[in-house]
Amino acid sequence: NKIIEAPIVIIGSGYGGAVSALRLCEAGKKVVLLEMGLNWEKSRIPFSNLLKPGKSSAWLKKKSIAPFMNIFSLTPFTGTLDRLDFDHINIWVGRGVGGGSLVNGGMAVTPKESYFKEVFPQLDAEKFYHHYFPLVHEELKVNIIDEEFLKDCPYYKFTRVGEEEAHQAGFKTMRVPNVYDFKYMEKEFRNEVPRSALNTEVIYGNNHGKNSLDKTYLKKALETGNLEILDLHRVDDIKLNDDKTYSVNVQQTDTSGALIADKIFHCKKLILAAGTMGTLQLLLRSNAVNGLPLHEGIGKNWGNNGNFMTGRNWVKPLSGGTGAKQSTIPVGGIDNWDDKEHPFFTEIAPLPMGMDVATALYLLINRVDKKGEVTYDTINRSLKLNWDESHTVKMKENAKYFVRKMNKANGGTRSHFLFNNGFGADICYHPLGGCVLGETTNEYGKLKEHENLYVLDGSLIPGTIGVNPFVTITAIAEYCIENLIKGSEFA
Ligand code: FDA
Repeated sequence: NKIIEAPIVIIGSGYGGAVSALRLCEAGKKVVLLEMGLNWEKSRIPFSNLLKPGKSSAWLKKKSIAPFMNIFSLTPFTGTLDRLDFDHINIWVGRGVGGGSLVNGGMAVTPKESYFKEVFPQLDAEKFYHHYFPLVHEELKVNIIDEEFLKDCPYYKFTRVGEEEAHQAGFKTMRVPNVYDFKYMEKEFRNEVPRSALNTEVIYGNNHGKNSLDKTYLKKALETGNLEILDLHRVDDIKLNDDKTYSVNVQQTDTSGALIADKIFHCKKLILAAGTMGTLQLLLRSNAVNGLPLHEGIGKNWGNNGNFMTGRNWVKPLSGGTGAKQSTIPVGGIDNWDDKEHPFFTEIAPLPMGMDVATALYLLINRVDKKGEVTYDTINRSLKLNWDESHTVKMKENAKYFVRKMNKANGGTRSHFLFNNGFGADICYHPLGGCVLGETTNEYGKLKEHENLYVLDGSLIPGTIGVNPFVTITAIAEYCIENLIKGSEFA
């Protein structure tokens, strides 16, 4: 195997990886970033839209893996969206240079300060709300839809109907910021530029309009000249050497997933930013196969961020339903977090199916009362997740309460069209935790039992943050890497 010397290696190019890369490169450090997915920008292969799933739609699968309506057969390709299936929960993740930012809905939500303090009592909330969150908003290019555009645009009928119905039922709504460039969207609408959000592009990638990480943090990091991104490089496991350096075992593949080369990267400093499930897989597998030392808390304190999907059918069918044309970018939410009995936040989600299905889709985010645990199954050589219906009892109660109240005020039924019994308890977009900050790591993400190994991604958040998580993941990564650099960890 070829051995490649690299002083600093980062695994994964999502939020945590991109922030770490930029700040280290700015500090003059040479960084190698290993990403198992494709560099889509460099490949020049266009992303496909929801109505015609193609190359970008699934990670090495024979069939598309959208949460609904998978009738499309595919030739396996290293697509942007992957789904990890466990007994009681399916977890969707992004693959490619930019990680989850390629496939997500771009909702850039800052957590409620009171909940942030509850989840991270040890952090200086003042500093986060006055420095890290504003910094992250600027770097990620967060913006808000113009209310006039929203009021008139036929592609946002689903939001207007969703908000009207929520108000009718006595719920409070909120405008949700996003990284999609709304000025671009207005031009799309006027047909001045190619369409993306208005052409059903989102979970298989956006060809235009969305400020994913390849257009923000990673672009800036590359401009320093200090970053090398190696795509289609999948890390199998890591090994701690006697001199406290690390050997990273990598398989380079082609776009069909076939092996091109085995490589070993030898580094002094290693940052794991492979996303919650990716980082846990690397740590637990490396422990099983190479005896990598692990703190006993690794894998514990895992949660689905309270993700719980539900829907309602026959929403305003007589007045034209929720609209045949729908933007893929959500801009509305219902905020019921302060209700002591039923605290939840829900996105008023688009359902762009190319026809008016008079159906409303909601992704609820709840508290996580009972945490799960991730372990490694040495026989099947895969992750195991201790998570079942007992973990989502309260989430289901909230969803039932929500749907009932909405239907009572507005008409409609529980959506059997979208989900078996009207509820999608097993759909998770926000896996969090398992390497909790300050428990399995020091206060800045350096793993206990290690001197040169760091975790900087969603796994630092203990299973819940109450809103869509990438703004928080990015802010925590900024906080950690700033302090690690200041503390001469990378000197
Ligand atoms: P992230 O998952 O972004 O990146 C990890 C990277 O590491 C990936 O590129 C992966 O390929 C790579 N990797 C993993 N294992 C590897 C290995 N062994 N070797 C090499 N590379 C490896 N959030 C939000 O705030 N607003 C929203 O609107 C949405 N919407 C949404 C929709 C959908 C469909 C999904 C799937 C997710 C969302 N999210 C979201 C969630 C959000 O995208 C997610 O929380 C973040 O991307 C997580 O960031 P991380 O930095 O933890 O890892």
